[in-house]
Amino acid sequence: MNEASPIAGLPGQTVVKPDVDSLVETVADHLYVIGAEAIEARGVFDIALSGGSTPKALFKRLVTDPNYRAFQWDKTRVWMVDERVVPADDERLNWNMLKGFLLDHVTLGENAAFQMKCDWPDGDLQYEHAIRETLATRSTAGVPRFDYVLLGMGPDGHTASLFPQTHVLDETQALVKYNTGERVIEPKHRMTMTYPLINAARHIAVLITGVSKTEMLRRVSGGAEDARELPIMGVRPTEDDTDLTWYLNAAAAGD
Ligand code: 6PG
Repeated sequence: MNEASPIAGLPGQTVVKPDVDSLVETVADHLYVIGAEAIEARGVFDIALSGGSTPKALFKRLVTDPNYRAFQWDKTRVWMVDERVVPADDERLNWNMLKGFLLDHVTLGENAAFQMKCDWPDGDLQYEHAIRETLATRSTAGVPRFDYVLLGMGPDGHTASLFPQTHVLDETQALVKYNTGERVIEPKHRMTMTYPLINAARHIAVLITGVSKTEMLRRVSGGAEDARELPIMGVRPTEDDTDLTWYLNAAAAGD
């Protein structure tokens, strides 16, 4: 086994907590404060959330823990980082997870939950249009800035639906794209936010738990490979004031 630290070379800040419970509590605490600050500064909190299974514990915590009862959901807009192209009733649909664990339990303002709809060939363009229109006054160099983007990491080093060796990794203009390719994990067809959009966010949180992710973190932290092979390495803030934080439990961090 490789003994190099699995986290020493990660860019930005790293938070390690002993277990998933204390980790999601920390993420929820930060999210709560960041939300309040965004609402105070700009009147609304725009968050983009990933799918997969890791965020479930965070969403559950946010909607059940009385400490977060004052979360201003009515001033929060919820967006999706990525979606799987599967039927509407498929449990792998990220939207269904988001609804079940978060959206069905909070009261957002009107039209404040933005589903990535994959029914049409130009679904990606439509989502980009909704982002550009809604965040029109909050852009940098023509790229809208989300207040908060929550990412995960797959076993192959993918993040969002940015998979190894896929064409979307090279995207410099489009903010949202359909993605597919040999290295895309089932379901093979996805829609995803691209690097330019993710990297312009004010806060980027990467939530990773479990020992099954440690070796991949070691490769990412080691820096010998690149984003083409380990797409999460392409998560690099483009703005100086962006805060990139890796939230890991001890098992993922190799402790
Ligand atoms: C998706 C994701 C994806 C996810 C990672 C981690 O829809 O597949 O958004 O990028 O965050 O694959 O997934 P787990 O949390 O299930 O390990």
